[in-house]
Amino acid sequence: MIINDDSHADLTSHDTFTKGFPYNTFKRLRDEDPCAWIDETDGGKGFWAITRYEDIKELNRQPQIFSSAKGIRLEEQTEEEYLARRTFQETDPPEHTRQRMILHRAFSHKMIAKYEELVRELAAEVCDAALTSNEVDVVKQIARKLPMRMLGRVLGTPDEDGEWLVDKGDELIANSDPDFTDHVIDKVDTDEYRFMPFRSPAGKDVYDYAKKQMDLRLHTKMHDVLALLLEPNKDGDTLSELEFKNFFALAVAAGNDTTRYSLAMSMFHLANKPQVFNQLHGKADDDPIWDTAVEEFIRYAAPTLHFRRTALEDYELHGKQIKAGDKVVLWFTSGNFDERQFDDPMSINIERSPNQHMAFGQGGPHACLGMWLARLEVKVTLQELLKRVTSMQQIEKEKYLRSNFIRGIKSLMVRFQR
Ligand code: HEM
Repeated sequence: MIINDDSHADLTSHDTFTKGFPYNTFKRLRDEDPCAWIDETDGGKGFWAITRYEDIKELNRQPQIFSSAKGIRLEEQTEEEYLARRTFQETDPPEHTRQRMILHRAFSHKMIAKYEELVRELAAEVCDAALTSNEVDVVKQIARKLPMRMLGRVLGTPDEDGEWLVDKGDELIANSDPDFTDHVIDKVDTDEYRFMPFRSPAGKDVYDYAKKQMDLRLHTKMHDVLALLLEPNKDGDTLSELEFKNFFALAVAAGNDTTRYSLAMSMFHLANKPQVFNQLHGKADDDPIWDTAVEEFIRYAAPTLHFRRTALEDYELHGKQIKAGDKVVLWFTSGNFDERQFDDPMSINIERSPNQHMAFGQGGPHACLGMWLARLEVKVTLQELLKRVTSMQQIEKEKYLRSNFIRGIKSLMVRFQR
């Protein structure tokens, strides 16, 4: 693994993260300055970096003080931009609760468990196609293939649109990486797209696509999640067109790459740690070790580096005075490597239990909606892969996404023995 051993890495720079996660910077912050003020050089007004597990959890469960309703990423937005682009993730209770309740039904553990067979079918197909060669970029050939196809099935979009949606999802959420977009957010002027999700031209394409999906459901009786979202609630309220389009863009962005990068990190460990591979190889699908292994892989992967809140009132933390209006950034990935919470957090222990990691957020109203789907996909894909191979080794240095928002291995070459 590329270890970025810089203990004073610039967290505001996307380039920092192409060298891997700066573990030492976050360790220093957790130990010495757990509520650190970070200046921004690109016109941002600066933010508080919250890096310890307990603090992140504590702040995250107080949406009445640490609001999501003024943006959830570092980007400064005008009120107009915010209103045009906000999703239900960028609202606070009670406004947030309405959409969350509708969606929760479709994404609950119980509902998602019903998809196991389908996920297995798709995962088997993807693994068989990838393993026609013994040397495979497992991110491109395996991890990238499954999540959007699966999410499409849950939402109700046609299978054949899957690849297009993956590309669009990448353009949106990887808007800082030139491998995924021509409109790199910190390199070109994206002012023209400031009312679009992620200030990206792909936002317009996704909006147009969402509108077509919406019209289809308003004119034809359908029974999928998108149709459910469009039904009036008990008070007769319905989602507006903009709310629907923004939810769709959120799902395409959030449900696509985070699961991909969790799978990528899982395969990274399997390809580099034969003892981990051997612990899992040959295990029956219902062996409980799969559940603890998946949790541990996702803890380590922690693909969403942070989410931001905005303080609505003054608050003191570790002697620092957070002022109303300040940006407060919860570094979930750092929380997952906090020695105060996890024994030997830099090691992979696939039997770790308990493992209350914060890769999906921790506490609070915004905990990941798609967590059960993500867990199922990671588990079943790894099971299907390991049934088909006898060993795997990494053969080239991995490459990381250029982003200080999403952490991901975007290319991982592996040699398989079968
Ligand atoms: C391993 C994969 C995933 C990770 C690590 C992850 C991570 C997260 C995190 C940390 C949050 C909390 C955001 C906050 O505090 O503001 C979140 C929220 C969310 N996630 Fe995920 N996610 C994953 C997969 C998915 C999938 C497959 C979907 C599919 C729909 C999804 C949809 C969402 C949505 C809609 C929210 C907002 C929930 C709300 O505001 O109530 N995620 N996710």
